[in-house]
Amino acid sequence: MSGTSLDGVDVVLAEIDDQNVVQLGAIAFPFPMELKKQILSICQGQAVTLATIGEIDYQLGTLYADAINYLLKQQSLLATEITAIGCHGQTVWHQPTGQKPFTMQLGDNNRIVALTNITVVGDFRRRDMAYGGQGAPLVPAFHHKVVSHPDENRIILNIGGIANLTTLFGNSIIKGYDTGPGNMLLDIWANQHLNKPYDNNGDWARSGQVNELLLADMLADPYFKRPAPKSTGREYFNAAWLQKYLTPYISLSAQDVQATLTQLTIRSIVDQVLLYDQVDCLLVCGGGAKNSYLMASLSELLSHIVVATTDKYGLSGDNMEALAFAWLAARTLSSMPGNLPSVTGASQETILGAIYPANNV
Ligand SMILES: Nc1ncnc2c1ncn2[C@@H]1O[C@H](COP(=O)(O)OP(=O)(O)O)[C@@H](O)[C@H]1O
Ligand SMILES: [Mg+2]
Repeated sequence: MSGTSLDGVDVVLAEIDDQNVVQLGAIAFPFPMELKKQILSICQGQAVTLATIGEIDYQLGTLYADAINYLLKQQSLLATEITAIGCHGQTVWHQPTGQKPFTMQLGDNNRIVALTNITVVGDFRRRDMAYGGQGAPLVPAFHHKVVSHPDENRIILNIGGIANLTTLFGNSIIKGYDTGPGNMLLDIWANQHLNKPYDNNGDWARSGQVNELLLADMLADPYFKRPAPKSTGREYFNAAWLQKYLTPYISLSAQDVQATLTQLTIRSIVDQVLLYDQVDCLLVCGGGAKNSYLMASLSELLSHIVVATTDKYGLSGDNMEALAFAWLAARTLSSMPGNLPSVTGASQETILGAIYPANNV
């Protein structure tokens, strides 16, 4: 799995059967800076050549295979001991609405097969979209599998580049959608002003003052009001989006902007959680769970419920999505559906993805 944050590739080793999903190992494999720059250059709307797309596809395939082979070596495992790789790919464009909806993930799965000798399952999102769905989020079925609890109404919140939540309330229909930006805008601003990939623990944001007018302007963006199903990405919440809202606030200090952007992530999440009056707890995963300022602020605004990391409940927040795509790959190999129409808006449940079988050697 590599998400919109472009912080790296998360690889998990998992044992999956009908009942259980057990994580046996995991690594985070960093993105080479040059590749990260190239990906960033194509996923925010600039003109791009087909050659660039092809070359990124090739390089990502190599990177994913290297990451997988690294984990196998670390675990002293042979390719023959692995049933399959579930590979999400790198989203470079996600356009789930309009007359010609599509989503594009790069990372050549053929190359992964050739470099690992393991069957790959990839291209998960487009089948759901072919049935009229958003193609996202696809993790809610997995959240239901591993985090739902008979006596507790839970919301699972993943704070990646984009934040998404899943409602798990007993037998009620599962809802899941992107609430809006997670770490994405925070990372962009920290990168521009601190020359760092992210605002460690939210310390910089903590040093600033939230500007309520700017916050209100940004929260009035139509995305936040749109009803689900909905999903979004870097092609919408990006540096240009930020610039548009910041222009009237030119005199704000950089740390006040960071404080306000952190609050935007928090408030857009809290506004959604407050729509559900039966919630007992909010379980947080993804990199944003490590931002202690963000977590403290979330807990403060949601003091009537339990706010905790999934790690506290025995589920690694760093690997939840990677594990989800391992499980989705297992579903595909068993010809079982992976999407939830109540979440994505697809007209039906469907098997997801394409299988790239390894050669028998
Ligand atoms: N210690 C930390 N403090 C603040 N933010 C963090 C920390 N560790 C990770 N993050 C944030 O988490 C992001 C990565 O989250 P991740 O769940 O991998 O997102 P994605 O799925 O989009 O790749 C980083 O870009 C950063 O913004
Ligand atoms: Mg990541």
